[in-house]
Amino acid sequence: MSSKNHRPFFLTLLVVIQGTLAAMGEQSTPQLTETPKQTEERLAWFRDAKFGLFIHWGPAALSGEEISWGMAGRIEGGAQHMKVPRETYMNLYKDFNPVKFQPDELVSLAKNAGMKYLVFVTKHHDGFSLWPTKEKRFPENADYPVHYSIADTPYKKDPLRMVQQAAKKQGLKLGWYYSTRDWTHPAYLQGDNMAYNNYYENQVEELLREYGPVDMLWFDHCFEKWSQYTIPRLYEKMYAHNPKLLVNDRAAKGLTDIPAEFAPLRQGDFDTPENRMGAFQHGRAWESCMILSPHEDHGGWSYRPDAKTRSLTETIRLLSSCVCGDGNMLLNLAPLPDGSIRPEEKAILEGIAPWIRKNGEAIYATRGGPWINGPWGGSTYRGKQVYLHLIDPTDEPYIFNRLPQNILAATTIDGQEIPFSQNSKKGTISLTLPKSARDSHVSIIKLTLDKEVQEVLYGPALANQQANDIPGTLTFHPRNAEHKGDLQVTSSGESSVLTHWNNPKDTANWPLEIDSPGTYTVQLTTSATEAGSTLSVVLGKTTTLHTLVPRTGGEHNYQSYQIGKVTFPNAESIQLLLCPNDDGNWKPIQVKEIKLIPYNSSHD
Ligand code: GLC
Repeated sequence: MSSKNHRPFFLTLLVVIQGTLAAMGEQSTPQLTETPKQTEERLAWFRDAKFGLFIHWGPAALSGEEISWGMAGRIEGGAQHMKVPRETYMNLYKDFNPVKFQPDELVSLAKNAGMKYLVFVTKHHDGFSLWPTKEKRFPENADYPVHYSIADTPYKKDPLRMVQQAAKKQGLKLGWYYSTRDWTHPAYLQGDNMAYNNYYENQVEELLREYGPVDMLWFDHCFEKWSQYTIPRLYEKMYAHNPKLLVNDRAAKGLTDIPAEFAPLRQGDFDTPENRMGAFQHGRAWESCMILSPHEDHGGWSYRPDAKTRSLTETIRLLSSCVCGDGNMLLNLAPLPDGSIRPEEKAILEGIAPWIRKNGEAIYATRGGPWINGPWGGSTYRGKQVYLHLIDPTDEPYIFNRLPQNILAATTIDGQEIPFSQNSKKGTISLTLPKSARDSHVSIIKLTLDKEVQEVLYGPALANQQANDIPGTLTFHPRNAEHKGDLQVTSSGESSVLTHWNNPKDTANWPLEIDSPGTYTVQLTTSATEAGSTLSVVLGKTTTLHTLVPRTGGEHNYQSYQIGKVTFPNAESIQLLLCPNDDGNWKPIQVKEIKLIPYNSSHD
């Protein structure tokens, strides 16, 4: 071997040392080395947990404006929300004395509502640390305290310690939210950004070391260039503390020029659709983070006195839809400045408790499917059990598309038999829900099959879904689209499809006449052989919805799914535009139909 290798000894040695170092680094970063099976095992608790509690809180609550975004003159983001003069905002900490903060109560409230984990904001974009960090951020003679942390407030306790202990005592998994973006650190994005990298990585280590074991790190984005960050080093440090740690997909997502070999660090362990339901996605874990009390200005993560808490029905339906879509829901509560929980939010968690106690077997440790969610509801399964999550049932029968297994029984969770029939040739199922089995939030029906569920069934779940179109639904067909680039429309009979969407620069648009102002649910019907594409639906000047286009198992397998709501206050003529997010992940998709379905606000 040495006879063939004429490399000088010191070079060989260098290569060996580099190789060993790389191997050490890789070994400690599971995203770079694990097999899919190992990833599945590491994520198992999260997959089974389904429901978590998110907390956004800090001195910002005193202002009643949006956490971090409320600060005027900040260095990033648009002009929206900027309400509080910077000086006022930065000095809110002086009055932060949350004497009513009781994590034990909060955790038991969450636990009773069926939440299995908790993600707590430790530092938001405003840079304030909710624990007595040892890391210094401001020089001694600056206008603000050196650590700018909870230790500088009149409240002398450590909320993170209290939260960690409460979670541990009551058996909830623990995640720390940490914003890499930092709008007040003097070294943030200065020069090569190394001073800031050292600061924030030390803080992350402190959080893992001092408050361990921590189960999850929930980052909240950073932007600019990959070379200004030391992301592989960050991962190595984190995994030295806990080899089982989960990391969301925001540790590096916004950076440009990410080298291909580090793409898994950009992705982390799970996707985080924000304040909207994620699309059905089996291949990769996801978690929708949802504001429980949204403000009409699209904020509401932190305490906003004039935010409106969602209804109990809406909250339960959101949870059910996420779980049917094979994802989790992280529901955000925004404590008051004194640390107490908003009574309306408390009431929602208390209201979820009886529903989840009764129906939990349709939620936990299930997988989404076999039928993909639709306006009728959705389904979950575990082995030979399928749970239908039905929304607003009527006296009309549900006709479910073919199931390869035979159904042996259909009952409510508490055992009431539900009449059903399964067509022996087609495998379709007809089922009418008796009034006695209906639940005003989500009705759960349990099907027992002769064999285990093996695959997800694409295409509309309900054979009679077409007939169920709500009056006033606006449907957009590819054949009426104006399209740019290489897009083509393929028509056969009644139906047409937008095909050849290979280039993320191509777009399609339709004229949209709003005769009946109001709120509509936006539903797409698409197919894709591979996942990864993000599509934006632009509705006039004010609303843009984004969705990950789900992988449907084939070009000809279509899936219908809802991506959000849009409100048109006035009758108007606008455009509906479909445009890909050109983020380097675009994979060809086919689009069959877009629907705007009138949203009946009585559903709230
Ligand atoms: C966004 C917001 C932030 C919030 C977060 C939760 O990134 O900037 O305020 O904490 O989403 O997902």
